[in-house]
Amino acid sequence: MRIILAKDYEDMSQKAANLIAAQISLKPNSVLGLATGSSPIGAYQNLIESYKKGQISFAQTVSINLDEYVGLAQNSPQSYRFFMDENLFNHVDIDKNRSFVPNGLAADAKEECARYEGIIKQFGGVDLQLLGLGNNGHIGFNEPAQNFEKETHKVALTESTIKANRRFFAKEEDVPRFAYTMGIGSIIKARHIVLIASGVGKAQVLKDAFLGPVTPQLPASILQFHPNVCLVADETAMSLLI
Ligand code: F6R
Repeated sequence: MRIILAKDYEDMSQKAANLIAAQISLKPNSVLGLATGSSPIGAYQNLIESYKKGQISFAQTVSINLDEYVGLAQNSPQSYRFFMDENLFNHVDIDKNRSFVPNGLAADAKEECARYEGIIKQFGGVDLQLLGLGNNGHIGFNEPAQNFEKETHKVALTESTIKANRRFFAKEEDVPRFAYTMGIGSIIKARHIVLIASGVGKAQVLKDAFLGPVTPQLPASILQFHPNVCLVADETAMSLLI
């Protein structure tokens, strides 16, 4: 694993954006695995700025997002599709027909998971997967469990995740209880993984993920087995590791 130590959130965002920009520059038709949440917003802002300066183009890029809430329409402000449009896609030249997020309103969950897994395969897998880290060690919405789920699946969100995501909704009852997520197998097949973490709230889980045992009880710990992980974390997130 490569560790890039950042000073703070802004620095982490810039460094993560640099890695993504380098990926697109070297391979314009890269398949990017993208994440939502607070962690990547700054990186997306930096990418938008680079695009506006003419330094990068997403015109040939494919994007495949990690996850989506079950039950939310694409145009719902809390949906991850809406988040991606607002925070990245609407501001760059990406072809939205080639930017994928699971369909939260799919009639048949099994079919939707198979369709999504098919998209990942159709484009030859993910070149660079951007990941945030959940407080309970989840990546995507792979929550602590008895087994590592391999492929895209429907998952029941844990109380801890519902509480963490409550900030995006008017009230806790509005937070969806289920989500679609790429599986651990789908995630670790990515050729290059960039995990970003900022803030003291991530310090303990980051330490447990990389210095503790590899266990489905802490899904991010599987990253210890991946040959090409780059951790970009700021000093507070890294405070228990260095
Ligand atoms: C989001 C996702 C989640 C988040 C994680 C961290 O698409 O897959 O795993 O990356 O919950 O969220 P933040 O960045 O808000 O701390």
